Amino acid sequence: MQIILASSSLDAVHIVATRILEKLFSSPNSVLGLATGKTMIPVYSELVRLVNSSKSTQLQKCHFFMLDEYMGLPLNHLETFRNYIQFHLIKPLGLNESQFNFPPVHLTDGPFQYEETLKAKGGIDLQLLGLGRNGHIGFNEPGSQKNSRTRVVKLSDDTIEANKDQFKEIIPTHALSMGIETILECRELLMLVTGKSKAQTVKYLLSHHDDEICPATYLKEHPHFTLVLDPEAASRINLKM
Ligand code: GLP
Repeated sequence: MQIILASSSLDAVHIVATRILEKLFSSPNSVLGLATGKTMIPVYSELVRLVNSSKSTQLQKCHFFMLDEYMGLPLNHLETFRNYIQFHLIKPLGLNESQFNFPPVHLTDGPFQYEETLKAKGGIDLQLLGLGRNGHIGFNEPGSQKNSRTRVVKLSDDTIEANKDQFKEIIPTHALSMGIETILECRELLMLVTGKSKAQTVKYLLSHHDDEICPATYLKEHPHFTLVLDPEAASRINLKM
């Protein structure tokens, strides 16, 4: 596990966006896994800025998989992750929606189908990840098992509380999420954590291993796991450890 301590949250965002750009530049056929959440909004706008200022980055050949999606929302609902990525990445970069794979939340065998699509594309080269306040990854909530695959999950009260300001009438209680084992199979993991509200979770993450209370701890065994922290997220850890 490599930890990168950024000098500011802007710097952290820039580091992550640059890594993604470098991946797309060196391997234009890459398969990228994308995360959502508030943390990723500035990453996508920085990526759009970098792509637009680098004339040589080709994005037509790469493919994207979304990490998770809420269940129970109409397809055109503003707060679906599908809509999120359309707004923050697909439209600004003029990408083709056929390059994107979305968890098929409206199919009964959606989790199986998604794993099959992922397999057929050869797996994910670089998976971008955020961190839930309670240590969740994607929507693998505390209690998730390390060998979990893509499945329908029940959201924890903490996650519902953290995200409920985005919803008016329907507050989702379930989601379809890639599993921990599915995420561990990605060839590279890049996690960004920013802000004081995650500082305690980061501290827990760094001092525990294979701990179902904090599913992010499962990722520490991955041979190519990079954790990028802004100073606030790193404010409760000893940087020399
Ligand atoms: C969300 C998503 C995750 C995200 C995490 C943190 O609900 N399922 O993919 O990384 O929770 O979200 P935020 O960046 O808004 O704190």
